[in-house]
Amino acid sequence: MLQALPAPPGEAGLGAAGAARFQLSLELTIRALNESDLDSLDWDSERAIRAPDVARSLRERGDAVEWLGAFVGRAPVGRIGIDYERAGPSVGHLWAFSVLPALQRQGIGTRLLDAAERRLRERGGRLAEIGVERDNHNARRLYERRGYTHHAEAVGHDGEPITLLRKCL
Ligand SMILES: CC(C)(COP(=O)(O)OP(=O)(O)OC[C@H]1O[C@@H](n2cnc3c(N)ncnc32)[C@H](O)[C@@H]1OP(=O)(O)O)[C@@H](O)C(=O)NCCC(=O)NCCS
Repeated sequence: MLQALPAPPGEAGLGAAGAARFQLSLELTIRALNESDLDSLDWDSERAIRAPDVARSLRERGDAVEWLGAFVGRAPVGRIGIDYERAGPSVGHLWAFSVLPALQRQGIGTRLLDAAERRLRERGGRLAEIGVERDNHNARRLYERRGYTHHAEAVGHDGEPITLLRKCL
């Protein structure tokens, strides 16, 4: 849904070139990802695990891994993986958490994290774990606000040093 906005002062002259401002409201759905979503799953993010890795885990890991996606219409704009094996019994390891850059800082990541924690509880999980690179201060702040605390120093999927944070569900 598009709603026209007045041009801000100083930009009124842009109208002559056809420029205009609108507010866009989008309906967001969070649901399990499946193979048919994978083609449009990749976006530019230096920290995110790429779509081929998501595809491989969907094909090869069976029930041990689940993926949730945030969708606008049929287009994925966010994703998070839940690995039920990596961190041991009753601990869900959350990974490959990413939101389309243009839609970050709108609350989508928080909704995805909430949905992953709910799903983990449904499957009997008692702890959620997430790994964050040491220089990823924005993501770490988000996790700490959501109740995650330091658990251990570890090595990530590509050998990079990470900090593991955990939260009781
Ligand atoms: C980390 C990531 C998934 C978070 O997703 P997101 O959609 O931006 O998360 P949210 O919008 O829910 O929250 C991010 C911040 O925006 C703020 N925010 C939420 N809604 C907002 C709004 N409407 N207006 C302004 N800020 C808002 C939140 O309070 C939060 O602020 P904080 O960091 O100061 O606590 C996303 O930044 C990302 O994809 N980063 C690149 C990949 C990455 O680093 N992944 C994590 C690997 S561990």
